[in-house]
Parts: sequence; C-alpha cells; structure tokens
Amino acid sequence: MIITQARLEDIDSILELHKKYHVNTVSEEDKPDGFITTDFTPEQLKGLIGEDGITIIKDGDSVLGYAMAASWQFWSEWPFFANMIKLLPDNSFEGTVLDMENSYQYGPITLDKSIRGTGMFEKLFNASLKNMSKRYPIMVTFINQINDRSYVAHTEKVPMEVISTFVFNNNDYYMLACPTK
Ligand SMILES: CC(C)(COP(=O)(O)OP(=O)(O)OC[C@H]1O[C@@H](n2cnc3c(N)ncnc32)[C@H](O)[C@@H]1OP(=O)(O)O)[C@@H](O)C(=O)NCCC(=O)NCCS
Repeated sequence: MIITQARLEDIDSILELHKKYHVNTVSEEDKPDGFITTDFTPEQLKGLIGEDGITIIKDGDSVLGYAMAASWQFWSEWPFFANMIKLLPDNSFEGTVLDMENSYQYGPITLDKSIRGTGMFEKLFNASLKNMSKRYPIMVTFINQINDRSYVAHTEKVPMEVISTFVFNNNDYYMLACPTK
C-alpha cells in the first residue's frame, strides 16, 4: 500500500470508494462507522486533482482511502462551503481570525472499512496536511455531530480542535482547526 497524490487515472476508483460511504448510498450496516456528505462530479474531481488536492491510499490500482483538501476559492461553488466561508471571520484559531488566505478546507476523508483502525487514517491525514503546509498555516474542517467515529479519530488520533459549532440544512456540525506545521 502506498500514500500518494491522486492522478486523473485514479478518478474512477475514487468515485467507487466515495459511493460506498456517501450518506445517500452507504449501507445501513456501515453508516454507524461514519459517512461523507459532499458530492463530487468527475469534473470537480479533475479540478481538485489539478489543485494537487487529493491524497490517496493505493493498493495496486485500487484506491482504499482518500483525503481531499483545497482552497476555499475552490470549494466556494458548494453551498455548504459558501456557508462555511461566511462563518470564517467569526472564527479564530490560536489568536488568528480565519480567512480564505490563512486557511484551507480539508475533507472529506474516507477509508475503506478493510483498513480502518490500522493507523492508516493518521498516515493519510498527515500526508495531506504536509502537502498543504507549503501553502497555508491553518487547516479547517467540519464534522457532522452524529459522526462519532470521525469525531473521535480527528480529536484523539490527530490534533484537531473544535473551534465552534454551526447548523446547515437542519444538521449540526463542529468546525475544527489545526496548525499545518
Ligand atoms: C472517519 C475515518 C476516516 C476514521 O478512520 P479510522 O481508521 O476508522 O479511525 P480509527 O479507527 O483509527 O479511529 C477511530 C476511533 O473511534 C472509535 N470509534 C469507532 N466507532 C465509534 C463510535 N460509534 N463512537 C465513538 N468512537 C468510535 C474507534 O474505536 C477508534 O478509537 P480506538 O482506536 O481508540 O479504538 C473512517 O472511519 C471512515 O472513513 N469513515 C467513513 C467516512 C467518514 O466518516 N469520513 C469522515 C467524514 S467527516
């Protein structure tokens, strides 16, 4: 298994993994272990790869994990992220008020269930963080408050801190941040 930046030829495998754990298509059995809510078209994934924004875990040709990360500018076409952008000036991390230049948005992240609980989460998270650390001092993300597994992973396995909470489309979310270095 290797951790690397995604290339265009990885899109089909990324979408396959994405569908397996997206809230609209995840099985009832798998849902308690977390789900993702962001939708992507193949075109949007191409754009994200163009921003060097997808870090993946690959086993042969199969993608077993991905972590997305990109500028707020890139994410702004999703209404969910447009809302987060509006909230940035009301949030600060370690004394710095957040904005579109000093922070970026990480997530979603997904691991195939065959490799969860193996330490690959931290490795993928840290590879994505390192890749973005050249461009931004602060990373920001969100977690649905009912996604307990993701909350525990992000607050206990890696050093993310809850900086606020917000509501979008009747769902409750945490906003979290961490330094990139
Ligand atoms: C979120 C995710 C990336 C984390 O990776 P992971 O390999 O599962 O993480 P880990 O197993 O190392 O850590 C999760 C911790 O939560 C614990 N946990 C599992 N289910 C839990 C639950 N329902 N409530 C509380 N804690 C839970 C695990 O036991 C583990 O802690 P431990 O190692 O001390 O036992 C992965 O579970 C995943 O891809 N989930 C589906 C998609 C998703 O939710 N993505 C995140 C969207 S914000």
